[in-house]
Amino acid sequence: MSLEKTDSLRSRPAWSRLVTHAKDNRAFNLEQAFLADRARYRDFSLEVNDLLVDYSRCLVTRDTIQLLVELAEEAGLGSNIEALLAGEIVNGTERRAALHTALRGTGPAIVDGKPVEPLVSAELDLFLAYADAVRSGARVGYSGKRIERVINIGIGGSDLGPRLVSDALQAAEEPVRVRYVAGIDGQELERSLRGADPETTLFVICSKTFSTLETRLNADAAKSWLLAKLPAEAVTCHFAAVSVNHAAMDEFGIAKDARFSIWDWVGGRFSLWSAIGVSSAIAIGGAAFRQLLAGAAGMDQHFRSRPLAENIPVVLGLLSVWQQSFLGITDHVILPYDQRLELLPAYLQQLFMESLGKSVCNDGSPVYCSTGASVWGTVGSHSQHSFAQLLHQGTASIQVDYIGTVAGPRLSVAGGQVEGLANMIAQSESLALGQDESSVQESLAASGKDAAEIERLSAHRVHPGNRPSVMLLLRELSPRMLGALLAMYEHQVYVQAMIWDINPFDQWGVELGKVRAGQYAEYLKNGDTEKLPGIGQSILTWQRKSSG
Ligand code: F6P
Repeated sequence: MSLEKTDSLRSRPAWSRLVTHAKDNRAFNLEQAFLADRARYRDFSLEVNDLLVDYSRCLVTRDTIQLLVELAEEAGLGSNIEALLAGEIVNGTERRAALHTALRGTGPAIVDGKPVEPLVSAELDLFLAYADAVRSGARVGYSGKRIERVINIGIGGSDLGPRLVSDALQAAEEPVRVRYVAGIDGQELERSLRGADPETTLFVICSKTFSTLETRLNADAAKSWLLAKLPAEAVTCHFAAVSVNHAAMDEFGIAKDARFSIWDWVGGRFSLWSAIGVSSAIAIGGAAFRQLLAGAAGMDQHFRSRPLAENIPVVLGLLSVWQQSFLGITDHVILPYDQRLELLPAYLQQLFMESLGKSVCNDGSPVYCSTGASVWGTVGSHSQHSFAQLLHQGTASIQVDYIGTVAGPRLSVAGGQVEGLANMIAQSESLALGQDESSVQESLAASGKDAAEIERLSAHRVHPGNRPSVMLLLRELSPRMLGALLAMYEHQVYVQAMIWDINPFDQWGVELGKVRAGQYAEYLKNGDTEKLPGIGQSILTWQRKSSG
């Protein structure tokens, strides 16, 4: 297993060749590349199960791809993939496997000498049966009324994935409305409770650890809200929970038949496939949830079996390594041209940035190149009227993922779905090809501008182009396709981490702030001015003034 660092990637021959290749290809130009090579689209695109990936607008030649594949081979990527899927300890700092793939039936995976498949499939049956019982009304509240509103309480991986799945796949007319609450200040919870009836409301507490501050505060507040109207025994009917921490679920009063397990070997940001997804299963139904898993399993199969150069997550991961480590790109922008994927950028922010935001290699030595990019984005058409200006003409160094679906949902209103796809193509082409000064001048002249006006405006209207993007085209946004898309991104993250030799499964960087916040909360509550930094003292002063 090559996860233990034995030598620096920098010393690998392919790495050095890529450094030279990057220097030699500084003048690479996408417009010329397309003109010189009619087969560029055909040769720089891949397809699997109704998902097409067009990477012809990335800043690569055939040699670049060849060298990147050699780098992956030298890094032992093939055996790293097998190690992940088999349940080996791929999370070195926490000495754990990372078996999100086993949650969708990809195996065989063994942990502590035992196959995990029986555990996973028994838990899946349990939480999907629970979800369907809530949906159908078979599982009711304390007073026998049907559950009409479900409020998922969780944060990070216990929120973003299930929230995305619900939002993307929930049909217009669902028997139960599912909402998500994550924020610490109570406002999101309060909004989710507007107009709610405790007798028809179910809270689902999702927390791998059951100790996350935001989730504990919201869960306690939800319990107080419920108990203001219903007796203590009602908790068992109105709360469900998912955690590894059964003692904490006992203490909270979660009924035995409304609690579900996850395991240490499921990372928070990879947990939407587990019982952490129970609220999304209530939103979309157990059968659709199984389709989501099947789509992800199909991508696992592709990841495991395809040669590196034809392997979608591998190619995407290698392209990001190339663009981020060799070309200096710092921002990875996600632009879905499908409103149902509005929450995808937020989900991918955690997946990429918590996984790849590392500065040391697996052996603790400093990384020698830039690693994770900043990931951000929004729905494509929104972006065009907000930040796309910076993508086209700003000085930031960006790579973009455009995501489109061909068959849209059936709507009762006229929608511009075709126009949306046309805009996606136009955006990607504009980023890639730009518009040079002479063509700007020609178009200004054609629009009747005089020479002085052309001179005044042309520099402002030039689009430099040569900015890389990938286009991901889905035939439709079914549960199966969404599963495949999310699994593809998980594997892309793993590929990048393996090349950079960093651990994508820990997140120590979130701990320090948590510890300090605990201390500052005490000082703020006790009015302990001396122990607070300047801004904390101002908070206390303003609090005192506000409370009269
Ligand atoms: O603080 C970050 C984090 O640990 C994430 O990795 C995780 O998804 C989130 O908090 C929530 O953790 P839990 O499910 O234990 O409440």
